[in-house]
Formats: sequence, structure tokens, C-alpha cells
Amino acid sequence: MTYCASAFAVAHANIALAKYWGKADVGLNLPAVPSLSMTLDGMRTETRVKFDSRLSADSLELNGRPQQGKTLERVSTLLQRVRAQAGLDAYAQVTSHNNFPTASGLASSASGFAALALAARKAAGLPDNPEQASSLARHSSASAGRSLYGGYVALDLGQHAARRVCSAQHFPLALSVAVTQEGEKALGSTQGMEHTRLTSPYYTAWVEQAPALTRAIEQAIIAADLTTLGPLVEQSALLMHACMWGAAPAIVYFSPVTLAVLQRVRELRAAGVQAFCTMDAGPHVKVLSAPEQADEVQRALAEVPGVLRCLRCTLGPDAQVHSEPVS
Ligand code: DP6
Repeated sequence: MTYCASAFAVAHANIALAKYWGKADVGLNLPAVPSLSMTLDGMRTETRVKFDSRLSADSLELNGRPQQGKTLERVSTLLQRVRAQAGLDAYAQVTSHNNFPTASGLASSASGFAALALAARKAAGLPDNPEQASSLARHSSASAGRSLYGGYVALDLGQHAARRVCSAQHFPLALSVAVTQEGEKALGSTQGMEHTRLTSPYYTAWVEQAPALTRAIEQAIIAADLTTLGPLVEQSALLMHACMWGAAPAIVYFSPVTLAVLQRVRELRAAGVQAFCTMDAGPHVKVLSAPEQADEVQRALAEVPGVLRCLRCTLGPDAQVHSEPVS
């Protein structure tokens, strides 16, 4: 019998306030540390999945370009899990689009795999189930498990799916992203974190410290207390990067511009602006502030020599899926 069904999903990127770096189980892709993120409204992936039994292979088009190799393999692995669960043997055509730079340390894999998981489950006829979709996305990229939910989201240690901590309305914050470099990052997070686990003498300390730090970050969010939250967020990011710097050879995502932005944010704080930095597997700096101070933060970031542009985000919504008529 021919099977032909398609679905379309939208998911937003997220930025970890308590970072995930390192795996407890590589095969299951279970993190070695808990993490907690905010979902971002401005950075979005839209993905369409069409299962069609007349296709002879899975295919992926990302931002208008056909993809092969590792990128396609990761997508096929997720589709294979969906096929197994749905008892389906049709291949799929996947078309995906990001409204922000791909693979540059701006969390495109998070929104990408979240949108893919939702669209693929829907197109395969599986029931709507955010927890199952989060677990599926997390298996491909752990940060993606968090992008199923809007607001503040945690991925607890040993859990397969993420959980919502609280809504965006509970604690409105702004995140200004200082883009410091164009192009894709040199080393992906998956390889980076395995290399850190295997070679950095600081890895054990990171894994020991992260749970308490994540708990404190969650409490500060629930208390809607930026003065307590900000320094903890910076500490989580800098501990994670210190751990990478201890790897052999070191993994250094910072550029001179990254450091210049960190310095500028310290000056802003000295001048009374509550602004705090976080960095992921790339040279960009993301700055957390109250929404009413985001204009001032953005002006300051844009003036730092080497900052190419500034993106402004607030908290984003749940990922969403739409079924589509078969074409
Ligand atoms: C620095 O989720 O991309 O952004 O599970 O191997 O796909 P994989 O890793 P990924 O790592 C994200 C790392 C980070 C921190 C974070 O988002 O928590």
C-alpha cells in the first residue's frame, strides 16, 4: 500500500543558562550534567517532512541546499526511529529553513532537531505527545530536547525528555546576541564534548559542580531574580569553557572579539546595568538583561570593534506542528 503524508513544524532555538557539556551515555545521548535553557522567539527553524513510499531514499534540503554525508545521516537516524515506532517503511523528503546562521554556535541543531522530531512524528501518524517528541529530539541532539517547550526548560540528569520550568510570562528577560564571526564553527559540540570528557582533567570537577549550579539557576528563575541569576549563568558558561581549555589539545571557541564583548559587559555592570554573558560552542556572546535595558545593552555591544551585528530575542513559545494536505 502506498503511504504519503506530510507535516510541517516550527521550533525555536534555545540558549542554555545552565550548560550541558559531556555525555553519560554516548549511544543513548544522555547528558552527564543537567541543563536549563530559555527558548528564544527570534531564532526559528521551519521543517516539512513528507513520507512517501515511492521515494528511494531519505533526502534533506537545508536553507535551499541539498545535504549529504553526516548531516543527512543524523536526520535519517531520527527518521529511522520514527519509522520503527510507527511501523512504516517509507522514506522521507525533509525541507528545513533557519532564519539565523546554521552551525555557528547559535543553537541551530536544537531548533532543527526539535522541528524535525515534531514534523516526522506527525507525518508518520504518531500521536501528539510533547514528551515523546522531546525524547526523540534529545536522542539526536540533547539541547534539541529542550526546544519542544517555550519559556524556561530543564533537562534533568538521567531523563530522556525535557520539562517546562516556568512560562515566559513568569520572568520576562531579553537576550542580545553579539554575532562576532560569519561562517560555520570549526568543531561541532558532539565531538568537542567527547574530546573534553576524554582529555580534560577539569571534566570531573565540571560534572561534580554542574548539578548544584543548575539547581541554583532554577531557583533564581522561579524567584524571578536577575541579580542572583546573572552571575550563576556566567559561572556555568565560564566553567564549561574552562573545562574545554583544559582538554588536550585545548578547545578554544573564544575569539579576541568574544573577550572584548565580555569586557564591555563588565563595564556596563560597573555602570549599573544588570547584564550577564553566556557563550556556547562558538565565538558569539549572548547577553542576558531585563527587557527594558536591552536597548542600552545592544547599543553597547554594537560599538565593540569586531561585532558584526546584534540579534535581539525574548522568550519564545512551544514548538508547534501542523498537519498538511498531501500534495
Ligand atoms: C554548548 O546539544 O549540540 O550549546 O547532544 O551532541 O548534539 P549533542 O550536543 P548539543 O550541545 C549543546 C552544547 C551547548 C550547551 C547547551 O546548549 O546546553
